[in-house]
Order: sequence, then structure tokens, then C-alpha cells
Amino acid sequence: MIEIGLNNIKKNFGLKNVLDGVSFEVKTGERVSLIGENGSGKSTILKIINGDEKQDFGQINIRKGASIGFLKQIYDKKQKDEIVESYLKRSFDEFTSIENNLKKLELLMADNNKDLDKILAKYGKLQERYTALGGYELEESFKKICSGFNFDRDFLNKEYNSLSGGEKTIVNLAAILLKNPNILLLDEPTNHLDILTREVLEETLEEYKGTILFVSHDRYFSNKLATREINV
Ligand SMILES: Nc1ncnc2c1ncn2[C@@H]1O[C@H](COP(=O)(O)OP(=O)(O)OP(=O)(O)O)[C@@H](O)[C@H]1O
Ligand SMILES: [Mg+2]
Repeated sequence: MIEIGLNNIKKNFGLKNVLDGVSFEVKTGERVSLIGENGSGKSTILKIINGDEKQDFGQINIRKGASIGFLKQIYDKKQKDEIVESYLKRSFDEFTSIENNLKKLELLMADNNKDLDKILAKYGKLQERYTALGGYELEESFKKICSGFNFDRDFLNKEYNSLSGGEKTIVNLAAILLKNPNILLLDEPTNHLDILTREVLEETLEEYKGTILFVSHDRYFSNKLATREINV
């Protein structure tokens, strides 16, 4: 199946023509490395796929139902003051909202509602989504991610804003993985990482079952992860 399809994407910034008709496809399970010179538009492509930038021309197709997790190249915004643990657990917001909706529907069902068939159908769909997202294994996946990335109690209690660049990168990646996305977009994920953290990143991505489209100037990392390269 095709996860991501770009067809003749064009993008200008002012007079600068950054993307001039980029087309490619990424299939399910591929790990594709986007390569190109500095300023060739790699980050712009990832932003367009994620919907953070709009192309001037051309079409983007994402497989219906596929969710995207995006690790950005630069996190410039200061986050609100919170500790790493609650920052990570914000990834569960969507699960909490589904849980709340399920509870509401349960109340309606108990109420002998005349639209019971409709409510049941809605409930079934929502429950399916919850299961598909991994809603029933939240605590387990939280523990697994924390142990995988070596986030101990002390680390989880640190203020997110006090973390180093590398620590922020890895916490952001963990937050993304907790959402269990079908597609990972990674923009220079090894930047600021020390050797140990890099190894953890490599192992984590090796185990990841979804599709990956990434940019990295780190040749060793790219060669190890990529199943294919696309030049832009
Ligand atoms: N929001 C913006 N406004 C104006 N120009 C932009 C904007 N975003 C990117 N550009 C310009 O578009 C070009 C492509 O930028 P982009 O960040 O996509 O390149 P890149 O391939 O990711 O580069 P690098 O390898 O250095 O990360 C650059 O010349 C950049 O300065
Ligand atoms: Mg870039």
C-alpha cells in the first residue's frame, strides 16, 4: 500500500523557488531517507506532508486512516512549564477524549435510548479506534518507552524546559511513539544526541513497525536505517 504520495509539489518562499515539482511515493513499512543539500527543501517537504506548510501546487495523498508523528528539526518554542512525565502523558489526550466519549455513550445506552442501534454502532466504531491506537495498553507502553529510553524517576520529574537539546529530542520522540503513529517523519533526529542516546534511538526505530520518512546528515545512521533513498 502507498502511505505517502507526493505529486508534482511546488513551493516558493517569496521569489525563492524551493520545490519545483517533487513527486515520490513511500510504501507501507519502508524507511526512506530524504537526501539533498542544505536548503534543498527537505524540511519543507516534511512540513507539507504533516500539514504545517501548504504547497503552492500539486497533491499530497496520505493513506486513509494513517496517523502521522512528526519529529521537527527545530523546537524553538518554549513549552509551558511542566515536568517530563506530564509532557509525555499529554500524548494520551486523544485516548482520554475517546474514553470520555465511550463513557457518555454507555450512559445513553443504559438510559434505554430509542436510538440504541445508532449508539451501539457509534460505540463499536469508537472502541475499534481505541483498540487500534493501543488504548488498552497505555500504561504498559508508557513503561516500555521509559525503560527503553532510560527515563528514570528523576528524569521524569525534571522540568521539560530545563532539558538539553538532545534530551528534548528524545523526549519528543518518546511522546510521538506513545501515540503509536503509522507514519514517522523525522527531521535530523540524531542532532544533539550523545552516543548512548543515539544507540537507543537506533534500536527503537529498528523495532518500530510503521513507515519512516526521515532526513539525516548522519551517514552512518541513514545507511543503517534506510531501505531506500530519495534525492531532492
Ligand atoms: N518559512 C520560510 N520562509 C522563508 N523561507 C523559508 C521558510 N522555510 C524555509 N525557507 C527557505 O527554503 C529553503 C529550504 O528550506 P528547508 O529548511 O526546507 O531546507 P532543508 O533541505 O531542510 O535544509 P537543511 O539541510 O539545512 O535542514 C531554504 O533556503 C530556507 O531558507
Ligand atoms: Mg532541514
